[in-house]
Amino acid sequence: MPDAFTSSEDRAAFIAGLPKAELHLHIEGSLEPELMFTLARRNHVAIPFASVEEVRAAYAFSNLQDFLDIYYQGMGVLHTEQDFHDLTIAYCARASADNVRHVEIFFDPQGHTERGIAFETVIRGITRALDDASARYGISSKLIMCFLRHLSEADAEATLDAALPYLGRIDGVGLDSSEVGHPPAKFERVFARARALGLKIVAHAGEEGPPAYVHEALDLLKVDRIDHGNRSLEDPALVARLAGEAMCLTVCPLSNLKLCVVDDLAAHPLRTMLDAGLIATINSDDPSYFGGYVNANYRAVADALDLSRAELVTLARNSFTGSFLGEADKVRHLAAIDAYA
Ligand code: ADE
Ligand code: ZN
Repeated sequence: MPDAFTSSEDRAAFIAGLPKAELHLHIEGSLEPELMFTLARRNHVAIPFASVEEVRAAYAFSNLQDFLDIYYQGMGVLHTEQDFHDLTIAYCARASADNVRHVEIFFDPQGHTERGIAFETVIRGITRALDDASARYGISSKLIMCFLRHLSEADAEATLDAALPYLGRIDGVGLDSSEVGHPPAKFERVFARARALGLKIVAHAGEEGPPAYVHEALDLLKVDRIDHGNRSLEDPALVARLAGEAMCLTVCPLSNLKLCVVDDLAAHPLRTMLDAGLIATINSDDPSYFGGYVNANYRAVADALDLSRAELVTLARNSFTGSFLGEADKVRHLAAIDAYA
């Protein structure tokens, strides 16, 4: 099979058939405007939009905070266990259609508990949908609970306390929301407790924040994976460290474009990351807000950077090697990629 593609369609067909995992997906960021309207009606919640088109038109952001403001507002329509189930199963159906075989899903409990929704409601709805998705689509999953970094560490500690009865269903903890001004150091103690409980550790770092935040995520939080990590490239010693430690980066091209982390996908750092030996992966972050699920992210960045078959195969392989699956499952998925390629 030749390594270069003859057309964008040829590349899209290759991407569509490639088995892959998604490692950076905020379930609340997969809330499509149509479901937002359905849930607003079902729960008698007022939303400041008259139509689906108006919602989509509001999704123009100049930075992360612009997006977060509308993201927290959007999740206000989620009230019942069934709402969280419907949200999650809809995402799994989309992921399965993109030939995603394994997902590691973030959820933001504080975005719900601070509105008076019980932690139990959130986790029961999400996990019931993940069980349904396993039976219906054969898609496996891990669940990662994120702490909102604009809130206090005490608030994160209380969230970890609320999660204790459900640790059988929670695989890891993460750190998201407004990055600049809220460094990983702020959460060192709660992450140490999560680690002691046997949870995997991830953190958004280097999306808008400086390379120093990536260093802190490694040194203080002792992360197993870095979410985004784009700005690591400003620090050659950090790049060498990430490569040396085979640290997985969950990169989100359309998110980076929509949040103005990059001006143009042709200037996206993904190829530089691969050339530097970093374990980069492609993910959708908040697909409803950023205009595409996993395959759309692969297509957009692959077209912009003219990625080859070998590079796309490396990216798909990285998505499994960087996952929290056990070794036997990783071997099985990697063999499926090799058979396809
Ligand atoms: N929450 C949802 N999406 C996020 C992102 N891209 N960065 C930080 N927090 C988020
Ligand atoms: Zn994210």
